[in-house]
Amino acid sequence: SNDHIDGNVRRYGKQAIAMAADRLQSGGLVAVPTETVYGLAADSTNAAAIADIYRTKGRPDFNPLIVHVPDMGSASELGIFNDLAATLAHKFWPGPLTLVVPKTADCRVVPAVTAGLDTIALRCPAHPVMQELLKATQLFLAAPSANKSGGISPTRAAHVENSLGSATPMILDGGSCESGVESTIVAIRGDNYEILRPGPVTAERLCESIGRPAIINQSPSIEAPGQLASHYAPSKPVRLNAETADHDEYHIGFGPISGHSCLSKNADLAEAASNLFATMHVADADDRPRIAVAPIPETGMGIAINDRLTRAAT
Ligand code: TXA
Ligand code: MG
Repeated sequence: SNDHIDGNVRRYGKQAIAMAADRLQSGGLVAVPTETVYGLAADSTNAAAIADIYRTKGRPDFNPLIVHVPDMGSASELGIFNDLAATLAHKFWPGPLTLVVPKTADCRVVPAVTAGLDTIALRCPAHPVMQELLKATQLFLAAPSANKSGGISPTRAAHVENSLGSATPMILDGGSCESGVESTIVAIRGDNYEILRPGPVTAERLCESIGRPAIINQSPSIEAPGQLASHYAPSKPVRLNAETADHDEYHIGFGPISGHSCLSKNADLAEAASNLFATMHVADADDRPRIAVAPIPETGMGIAINDRLTRAAT
């Protein structure tokens, strides 16, 4: 077997998948790799398992979870897809796009998953480990990012353990996450759509495939509480748009600004996104008491990066 066992961590292999599937089917939690960040997964139809997700993360009960599905067929058991939603699903699934759609009448997920809302957030992940797990379990897996609520999202197995500590469940280790920032969340509003969280599927690509831009949030409520101002926060102050750093600052660089570590020397925004959270974890653990971050262009993936950085700095 190519399974490697080290504490909670099970390196991806046939036996590890079978063990993870077994735990999920008996109401346990498993930390899983996705193409965006690691998720803390549980059976979305099991009330005790879902309560365990909220407890483990210290997540407020008004902040709903994303449900992961293997394909469009399963998604339509849980959510109602109009033409616009179906177009986006066909174009971007499997992949880092979450769609918020009305729940079906016989939607089987427990109310705590959607925090009592009549909509549900659905995502079909591209990561092969998640795909295998969804098929092996035949479950719809609720999975928020596998970190303590408000903390930095994990893009490696070690980040999960650092954040959840003694509450860490079994981790399926899939190495580093490719995208590095959480999925783009799009709410379907009839014939219009709204971007609730910028992510790897950029506003430009959404606009291209729909033929019109997203509408701007008319009710800036906490419908997506992950959108609360302070989030993804390290334990120390963060200063943005820093061309240079003070001696007591850990400097995160970009492009020509090298800093203590550079998100992307070539100023490649996709590379910067995939390095973002791992670099924030390093900066947080550094001896210097403050963090400074070089300017990141507000285009393409830069919008998602700046969104996370702004919340980290709040
Ligand atoms: O990339 C991702 O989306 C990762 C991986 C693990 O799939 N998951 C993730 O989950 O980022 P989480 O819990 O950290 O973020 C879920 C976001 C929250 O901001 C939540 O408020 C929003 O989704 N959300 C969930 N259900 C919603 C709903 N019905 N309406 C609006 N927002 C919703
Ligand atoms: Mg999160």
